[in-house]
Amino acid sequence: MASQELIRKLEKTIENIPDFPIPGIQFKDISPIFLDSKLYEEVIADLAAASRGKVDAVCGIESRGYLFGIAIAVALEVPFILIRKAGKLPPPVISEKYDLEYGSAVIETREGQIKAGQKVLIHDDLLATGGTTEAAARLVEKQGATVAQFSFLIALTGLKGEEKLKKFNAEVYHILE
Ligand code: PRP
Ligand code: MG
Repeated sequence: MASQELIRKLEKTIENIPDFPIPGIQFKDISPIFLDSKLYEEVIADLAAASRGKVDAVCGIESRGYLFGIAIAVALEVPFILIRKAGKLPPPVISEKYDLEYGSAVIETREGQIKAGQKVLIHDDLLATGGTTEAAARLVEKQGATVAQFSFLIALTGLKGEEKLKKFNAEVYHILE
């Protein structure tokens, strides 16, 4: 679990922007974290410690999942695999479709980068409804790997995101709620 001091520093640093991108939504702007290299190091140390010894690959979800995901993988000395929105990665790719509030979206990885039998950490900056992360987990399982853990900088409660992830029987770690 993250220290109270780290939680307090992050709560002071992350900006809550009302009515963005649409009225009624409060946007959490994590960009000030990257102005403070020491704080960024503390975040990576915490997220890496939560996954050390539990996973042998990290998947990060485009695009904010890359901001911490690559550094976690480097700290753990394991491979990092990009999960991207459709049409960004060259073929061959493995795809997974998922439903949005209006319509649907597709996420992809390069074929062969996730290995069958791997224990994978799926990392993203934020868990909201869980739709993106659930699709990422299905994409990992499609390739014969197992989701060993999910990690987030922030997991919003009240949107039932964690409930969507229960079926994967993996630990869910987050620093902030
Ligand atoms: C945000 C956030 C998560 C996702 C969470 O990404 O970074 O990836 O939404 O939402 P969910 O739990 O309801 O699926 P966004 O799609 O805004 O794109 P970005 O990371 O490229 O900014
Ligand atoms: Mg995102």
